[in-house]
Amino acid sequence: MQLSDAGLVLGIETSCDETAAAVVRGGREIVSNVVASQEEMHAHFGGIVPEVASRRHAELITAVVESALREASVTWHDLALLAVTRGPGLVGSLLVGVSAAKGYALATGLPLVGVNHIAGHITSSFLLAPGGAEPAPQQFPALALIASGGHSDLALVEGLGRYRLVGFTRDDAAGEALDKTARLLGLGYPGGPAIERAARDGDASAVELPRPDTKEGFEFSFAGLKTALVRIVEPDGLEHCGHSVPDLAASFQQAVVDCLVREAIAAATHFRARQIVVAGGVAANQRLRECMTDAARRKGLSSYFPPKSLCTDNAAMVAAAGYFQATHQGPQDLSMEVDSALQLPS
Ligand code: KG4
Ligand code: ZN
Repeated sequence: MQLSDAGLVLGIETSCDETAAAVVRGGREIVSNVVASQEEMHAHFGGIVPEVASRRHAELITAVVESALREASVTWHDLALLAVTRGPGLVGSLLVGVSAAKGYALATGLPLVGVNHIAGHITSSFLLAPGGAEPAPQQFPALALIASGGHSDLALVEGLGRYRLVGFTRDDAAGEALDKTARLLGLGYPGGPAIERAARDGDASAVELPRPDTKEGFEFSFAGLKTALVRIVEPDGLEHCGHSVPDLAASFQQAVVDCLVREAIAAATHFRARQIVVAGGVAANQRLRECMTDAARRKGLSSYFPPKSLCTDNAAMVAAAGYFQATHQGPQDLSMEVDSALQLPS
């Protein structure tokens, strides 16, 4: 499908707990980016409740889409394409976004693509960010690390819209491990930012923790690391375990970061990547940014992290990924379905 450099794409994202819509020009320039977060609501339950999430998406979706169009000062007639996340994610949440997008496609006659959420996260590195921060240079192949609450994936980026899965987690995702550990340490939800805050006053070498290595391919495993911390904390309780919460948080954060950096650098070296791009909610973590930048520099590689507003779930990344997907593969028809376990091609 031929899309012009000025082609406007409306992106819709409802895979998890953010209801988001955005307008992106030419797969690169963010014109509007609206995110309605459900974080506070889920913090009340200590995590995401799928049924609550999908109901909230249904309540918010129309208003969020309309405000994305309004903020971009465009109408439906100005758009060239609709892009919606079709997986991976929570099935009820995905269904809200995909059903809405199909409705809009039917009503407007606009072409539609169903986008892989992970492809969206990868594409966020190449977006012109608000505030004028430079995106990652288009140097390929690049190695992408996508670390979020649902995923810890490594992808080889052969070009924009050409992504291949080369590594994944055997068990928990990095963000999931941080979220569960934050709960164990009484730090609340979402766990990643809470652990990062607590870790600022802690010593990352105070508590000895493993750096699990599956020795197979470029695989992560965080379940054992989490269990190691449980074994330290649970026998005598948090107050009497002999370590402060900041020390526990800093040591755990460092162990997660070390595993992410080790596999990303190994994969980048193996595939002769020219740069490393890091995306997903965990990419907002300052310690990860520092350690990855240092390790990549030692290998002669540059590394890029999108601004924090583009690391967490948003629809600008979905619109951009949709633009490149439609360019390579064309639009899809209305039989396109959600797939809660959708993966990148390997
Ligand atoms: O990409 P995202 O918004 O949603 C998913 O697709 O999962 O990522 C959310 C995850 C959560 O696990 C959250 O704890 C983690 O990203 N996260 C962080 C930070 N900010 C968010 N982890 C570590 N440090 C942060 N600053
Ligand atoms: Zn995500």
